Amino acid sequence: MEKKMSELHAIAHKMVEKGKGILAADESTPTCTKRFESISTESTASTRNYYRNLLFTSKGIEKFISGIILFDETFHQSELETGKKYPDFLSGLGILPGIKVDQGLGDFGDGEKLTKGLDGLSERLNNYYSLGARFAKWRAVINISETFPSKDCIEANAGTLAKYALACQQSNLVPIVEPEVIMDGNHTIDQSFDVTSRALSSVFDQLQNHNVSLQGIVLKPNMVLSGYDCSYQADIEEVAEKTINCLSANVPTEVPGIAFLSGGQSDELATLHLNEMNKYETDWNLTFSYGRALQQPALKSWQGKKENTTIAQEEFIKRAEANSLATLASL
Ligand code: 13P
Repeated sequence: MEKKMSELHAIAHKMVEKGKGILAADESTPTCTKRFESISTESTASTRNYYRNLLFTSKGIEKFISGIILFDETFHQSELETGKKYPDFLSGLGILPGIKVDQGLGDFGDGEKLTKGLDGLSERLNNYYSLGARFAKWRAVINISETFPSKDCIEANAGTLAKYALACQQSNLVPIVEPEVIMDGNHTIDQSFDVTSRALSSVFDQLQNHNVSLQGIVLKPNMVLSGYDCSYQADIEEVAEKTINCLSANVPTEVPGIAFLSGGQSDELATLHLNEMNKYETDWNLTFSYGRALQQPALKSWQGKKENTTIAQEEFIKRAEANSLATLASL
């Protein structure tokens, strides 16, 4: 067990290595279908495979990307040229294969959400590990409104994240722990600070109660931002300062790294916020685990057409490289 724990710590460190970050390509089939609808492209197992293949075979991806989160469908699909299953293909490039293991959102009380997926989780984790996964992801969602979030919802999600994280470590997978405070709404940046703080504090209480090894996790939080419909939009410096203050107050120093989600920010802003935060001295490496902010320009360039593959790959690499520079505050 001891030796395995040190392997987990090493993998967590590799996931957040300076100059690299994580590509979230684990959109569920309905979400991927929505993305494809935006470019009038049919969503089938084969078009989804083609698109993920396009991203993963972009030239030089391994210089900027430490790990890729896959959806179950992609995890079992194969790279189109070599015929290798994606976990093997990515490992061959030196990229860690990860897997989304939550099963989406269920209702919690009146309008709040609790993530599903604990049933049969250990068995699924052991299977994914045996097929090459080295880390996993579970996303909890906290909404802000006049009456949300409730203490019960924050605690229920924190407890579920901790149970998932422990199960991952017992199956030799590094858990990405993702409590996402949603930025839709007209709340202020200070409300975002307060809710993010409450969510993180509860998550770390529960992780410690469940004896999760903090050196063997990666935290994936939202940044502290003004609600997207708030009339006052905080600038880059304020977002960076408030996010760092919020994390410093709530995230123990043993955690090796924090990989932010982009959460609907524009791709440019997500990069600039990360760059600004990396100007601060922090105990953890600060990097990205972006979905939309890494993929949006590539998706738009692709338009579902084979002849656009190379240009789409170039667009993807541009975002990956810019975010890599942002982890070094070098933009
Ligand atoms: P976004 O960066 O698009 O928010 O996606 C990241 C993610 O993995 C959400 O779970």
